[in-house]
Parts: sequence; C-alpha cells; structure tokens
Amino acid sequence: MLFDDNGNFRIQQLFSYPEDDYEQLKKEALKCERCQLRDGCNGVVMGEGNINKRIMLIGEGPGATEDRMGRPFVGKAGQLMDKILASVNLKREDLYITNVVKCRPPNNRVPHKNEFESCVAILMAEINLINPKVIVPMGSTAANFLISPKDSITRIRGNWIQKGSIFFLPTFHPAYLLRNSKMKKYSWYDFKLIKKAADRINELSSSGK
Ligand code: URA
Repeated sequence: MLFDDNGNFRIQQLFSYPEDDYEQLKKEALKCERCQLRDGCNGVVMGEGNINKRIMLIGEGPGATEDRMGRPFVGKAGQLMDKILASVNLKREDLYITNVVKCRPPNNRVPHKNEFESCVAILMAEINLINPKVIVPMGSTAANFLISPKDSITRIRGNWIQKGSIFFLPTFHPAYLLRNSKMKKYSWYDFKLIKKAADRINELSSSGK
C-alpha cells in the first residue's frame, strides 16, 4: 500500500521525476520503458486534468481505447465517469484523473506487483506535484494499492479515510458500474460527497488557505 497512516509514502521511489514542472514530468514519463507492459501497448498514458484543484481520481490502468488515444478514461468506462461527474455538476477540468499504472496491461488484466513498482514513481511525482487534499481511488485495485491492501471496495466505498492531511474517498470503478448498473446509485452518492469537497477546497483556496 502506497500511503501510511500519516499520509506519507511507504514505498521508496526508485526513479525520480521532476516534481515542480508538470510538462517536464509528463515528457519524461511518456518515455518510460521500465516494465514489460510497455512492450505490449501503444504508449504510456499520462494522467490529465487540472493540476491546481487538488483532487485526484485514480483508476487502475488504461484500457484499449485509452491505449489507442493516449488519454485516460476515454473509453466506455470513462464516458460513464463523465456522466456521473456531470450529474453532480463536476467536469474533468475540475480535477486530475490518472491511473496507478500508465501502460495498458494485456487483456486488461490486473497489473502485476513488479508493474506497480516500476510505475509508481510517476504516480508519486503526480501526487507530490498536485499535493491533493482529496484522492478518489476508483475500484479495488486502486483502493487496495493506495490505502488498504485487503479491504473490499464494497465495504470501504463512500467512507472518508484520512491519512495525514489527505482525505481518501474510495468509490466503485466505472467499469464495474457498467456491469452492475444497480450500484450506480452508490456511486452517485459518493460523487455528491466529492462535489461537496471540491466546493470546499475552492472556497478555502479563494480565501488563500
Ligand atoms: N480503466 C481504468 O482504470 N483506467 C482507464 O484509464 C480506463 C479504464
């Protein structure tokens, strides 16, 4: 798991990326060939969105459409995520969206341990640069990797989990919602909480906090 209870990273960064210049970070991340995932995909899919809003949505890894287009969450699951965001009056530009691994795993399998470990330096640099107040792990892979290795997403979703100064709100992965449409109502509840948090962060930042 990436974060300890104080909100610090538990994993030693093996590679270092620029943490003060997003464009430079992206340029270097796009060149990564540290694990075998890069051999089977079209390219590294970097996160995207607003790096100043201090809210991050984090998924598992790019799917086929994301791999083809080089952008996160633009396939069917991403389109559903956009609809959920819109239903609570949020847009992609109100947050930053990324994945735990940046290259598509073959047949969308769950990434292997060495793939997480090779890729995590990019995610850590994104997190250090954005300095999020809120992180939303989407789905069990992201929630288990980031905050809690054993808990099921069904049990922890919709609950704020504080680690140091970061508030985590795990929620279902939109791909899961495509297969289990009855669960969409829970996701909508979670995103209403995220919208509230986004408004609060905006208020605090306009008062200089
Ligand atoms: N699923 C993910 O976890 N990430 C994407 O970018 C697309 C689908």
